[in-house]
Amino acid sequence: MLIFGIESSCDETACAVVEDGRRVISSAVSSQIKDHRLYGGVVPEIASRLHVEAVCSVAEKAFSDAGMSVNDVDAVAVTYAPGLIGALLAGLGFAKGLAYSADKPLVPVHHLKGHIAALYLNNPELRPPFVALVASGGHSHVVHVKDYCEFEVLGRAVDDAAGEAFDKVARTLGLPYPGGVEVARLALTGDENKYKLPEPHTGGRYDMSFSGLKTAVINIVNQAGMKGEELDGPSLAASFQKRAVGMLAHRLADCSRELKLPAALCGGVAVNASLRDLAGQLCQKQGTELFLPLPEYCGDNAAMIAAAGYYELKNGARAPLSQNAFAAAEM
Ligand code: KG4
Ligand code: ZN
Repeated sequence: MLIFGIESSCDETACAVVEDGRRVISSAVSSQIKDHRLYGGVVPEIASRLHVEAVCSVAEKAFSDAGMSVNDVDAVAVTYAPGLIGALLAGLGFAKGLAYSADKPLVPVHHLKGHIAALYLNNPELRPPFVALVASGGHSHVVHVKDYCEFEVLGRAVDDAAGEAFDKVARTLGLPYPGGVEVARLALTGDENKYKLPEPHTGGRYDMSFSGLKTAVINIVNQAGMKGEELDGPSLAASFQKRAVGMLAHRLADCSRELKLPAALCGGVAVNASLRDLAGQLCQKQGTELFLPLPEYCGDNAAMIAAAGYYELKNGARAPLSQNAFAAAEM
């Protein structure tokens, strides 16, 4: 079964063709990063307009790379939530028109379920149940994936999401948007034990908190500025990354051990090499398997939406042509 996926929840316009939820036939992504960099973050109004401009040509590219037209696919899957509302509406409106004109079913996909489905694209042996850490710019969830379309969120970031904390620390250190990858790069040459940063505590067993950690970094930068002291940027980035990655990897490993299920990482932050390393070490030590997505399917893309859409379609999910988009929605 062939699914055409469309993703536009933040600053990537993406379309893809995926077979049976597992095999990527084509995947086209147009990033708006350079347009938002000037402002230090995503400007929602600009994002919506750029999606409207890009979506037709990105769809054409995905179809032509696949050597197909809309008549060859079985359904159109689209991200309907969560994300920037105008950005979501741009992709959803296009998806409705495409599905309606070709008389194909329209399948609504939750963005975070899409991130989880990215794992199926390169791990043919991965099947639910497993536990997934979804770490993106807007969410950090520990999810019990009970079946392809059955999820239970067991823990979440109670304040800032992990990616958001990376982005804010990057901005404080004077690094460009999006900051996660820049912080990780700067950290490579730093001493991760130089700055003593707080170890965040939360009430829930698998909950996470990144706001206090982020504030501690901001305070160190501000105090160094006021005292005229030189700041060791690489070591501050490394010390922050050590704490943030530690929290993420331990929550995932603990959950995997306690539920006696394989572990998996996904979402934009899952490209982070220290997170992959630490999660790998913890899982190996406790004897649980760890699944990772390919780096190109960690950040936002439409192959993951088409993969999730395949399982949702088989499960009977259909979006009416009156389908709305939602900035926030539970999984
Ligand atoms: O999943 P994603 O592409 O978009 C959302 O759904 O939010 O995640 C984007 C987030 C951003 O906050 C970005 O800074 C972060 O992923 N990120 C990273 C790295 N690369 C991207 N965080 C840490 N280390 C990285 N190497
Ligand atoms: Zn995402």
